[in-house]
Amino acid sequence: MKFEYFGHACFMIDTGNEKLLFDPFIRQNPLAADVSIENIHADYVFISHAHADHLADIELFTKTSSTQVICNFEIMNWLQKKGLSNFAPLNIGGQRQFKFGKVRMTQAIHSSSFSDGTYGGTAAGFLIEFNNKVIYYAGDTALFSDLKLNSEMYAIDWALLPIGGVFTMDAFDACKAAQLLKCNQIIGLHFDTFEAIKINKTNAIQVFNEQQIQLHIPTIQQTIIL
Ligand code: NI
Ligand code: MN
Repeated sequence: MKFEYFGHACFMIDTGNEKLLFDPFIRQNPLAADVSIENIHADYVFISHAHADHLADIELFTKTSSTQVICNFEIMNWLQKKGLSNFAPLNIGGQRQFKFGKVRMTQAIHSSSFSDGTYGGTAAGFLIEFNNKVIYYAGDTALFSDLKLNSEMYAIDWALLPIGGVFTMDAFDACKAAQLLKCNQIIGLHFDTFEAIKINKTNAIQVFNEQQIQLHIPTIQQTIIL
């Protein structure tokens, strides 16, 4: 499987058969100016929570009704009013089987409201079982001890964690999260986009190295084989 980074917390996982896009936020991200949106096709779009830096571009990737949106009930309601129609709603702790594999919506410690003030439900992450791998995308979250439940229930191959701090975990907290998740292949997200979340990448990698955990900090449009 292939991961491709589009900046901030937006990325694609290509299973080989289906393309899974997460938290589309590209046009408003100056760091992602070189990403050509018209070349991105998604079969599924995952939305972790209602903040604009996770769904601003969703309408670009749901132009064909065959593209299904995986999100919570409140986000579905809000997007239905914008004319989107193909959803697979979940709520925290729930699971759904898809053609590509099985998705569980997981807890995240974060707020979730739309830019117009509408309540967005609770923020979430996703645990995905597919192609004999388990991938965990934490969404925007603080460090919390129940992350260890995920490693009691799943053998997580890759964890995609925020590392920018201020609004989410920083690299130190994300390293602790990786230990709770018993996962030593981490992809860092949600850094550098805004002044407040600019990070020192060398320091971040060093923090993880000291615990024998590999932190990959992707550059925009970089691909990583999962
Ligand atoms: Ni957020
Ligand atoms: Mn965010």
